[in-house]
Amino acid sequence: MLENFLSQTRDQVSQNIKKSIGNSNLIEEAMSYSALADSKMIRAALINASGKINKKISDSSLLTLATGVELIHTYSLIHDDLPSMDDDDLRRGKDSSHIKFGEANAILAGDALQSLAYEIICNESSLEDKHKIEAIRKISKACGKNGMVYGQHLDINAETKKINEQLIENIHTLKTGKLIECSVMLGQIGNDNFEEKDFIKSFGNKIGLVFQITDDILEVISNEEALGKNINSDKKNSKATYVNILGLDESIKKSKDLCESAINEIKNIKSGEIDLLIELAKYICYREK
Ligand code: IPE
Ligand code: IPE
Ligand code: MG
Ligand code: MG
Repeated sequence: MLENFLSQTRDQVSQNIKKSIGNSNLIEEAMSYSALADSKMIRAALINASGKINKKISDSSLLTLATGVELIHTYSLIHDDLPSMDDDDLRRGKDSSHIKFGEANAILAGDALQSLAYEIICNESSLEDKHKIEAIRKISKACGKNGMVYGQHLDINAETKKINEQLIENIHTLKTGKLIECSVMLGQIGNDNFEEKDFIKSFGNKIGLVFQITDDILEVISNEEALGKNINSDKKNSKATYVNILGLDESIKKSKDLCESAINEIKNIKSGEIDLLIELAKYICYREK
C-alpha cells in the first residue's frame, strides 16, 4: 500500500515540478536538475496522507502544497551542500548543484526554487485566499529565522563544540523537524476539527525529530550508493549528531520510541484514514535511505 502511494505521489509531484519550472534558461535547468533528481518526496507524501483525514481540502490543493514544499526542501539541500555550509559534492546520486552549475548559479537556483514555491501556492485556484495565506504563513514560519534557517545556523555553529542532548534536539527540530511538522499540518488546511489537528501536530513534531535522528544513524551505518550523498560529511565537519552524543544503539532506541509515541498520537483520531500516516511514520524510522 505504502509503496504504491509513494510512487504515485512522486510521479504527480515530479510532473507538476516539471511543468512549474519550465526549461528556458540556465537557472531553470539548475532548478530542475536538483528538484527532479531521484528523491523520496517524504514531505509531499506526508501532506497527501494528512489530507486523507481532512475532508475539506481538494486533491489539486494537496498537489500544489506538496509541490511547493518539495521545491523548498530542494532549495534547502542545494544550499546545505554549498562549500560554505556542509561542502558536499554528491546529492541525490548526482553531482551537487554547485559542482554542476557553479556556486553562484546553485545559490540562485535555490533562491528561485523558494520563490516558486510561494508563487504556485498563490496561483492555486482551488484554495481560498485565506487558506493560501495560512499555507504561506505556515511554510515561511517553518523555514525562516526561527525555523529551518536558524536550525542550519545552530548546526554550523555547533561544529567542533561539545553539546548535550537538549541542544541537539533543538537543532534537529529546527533544521529538519519544523518543515516536516509543517507538511503534516498543510494537509489539515480547512479542517475545523481542532482536537484532531492537535494530535496531528504532535505526531508531526515527533516524526520530524525521528527523521533527522535516522539521517544521523544512516550516515554511520549505510553507504554512499544507497543514500546518494556523501556519508563522511558529519565526520568531516565535526558535526554534532545524535550518534555522537548518545551512541548508535541509544540513537536507534530513541528513534523507535519516538516513532511509537508519534503513532499513538495518531491512533487518538477515530474518524479518518490514519493508516497511511502510521505507515509513513514507520517508513521514516526504519528507512534504509
Ligand atoms: C535530507 O532529506 C536532508 C534532511 C533534512 C535530513 P531527505 O532524506 O528527505 O532527502 P531527499 O529529498 O529524499 O533527497
Ligand atoms: C540538512 O541536514 C537539513 C537541511 C537541508 C535544512 P543535513 O546536512 O544533516 O542533511 P544531509 O545529510 O546533508 O542530507
Ligand atoms: Mg547540514
Ligand atoms: Mg548536509
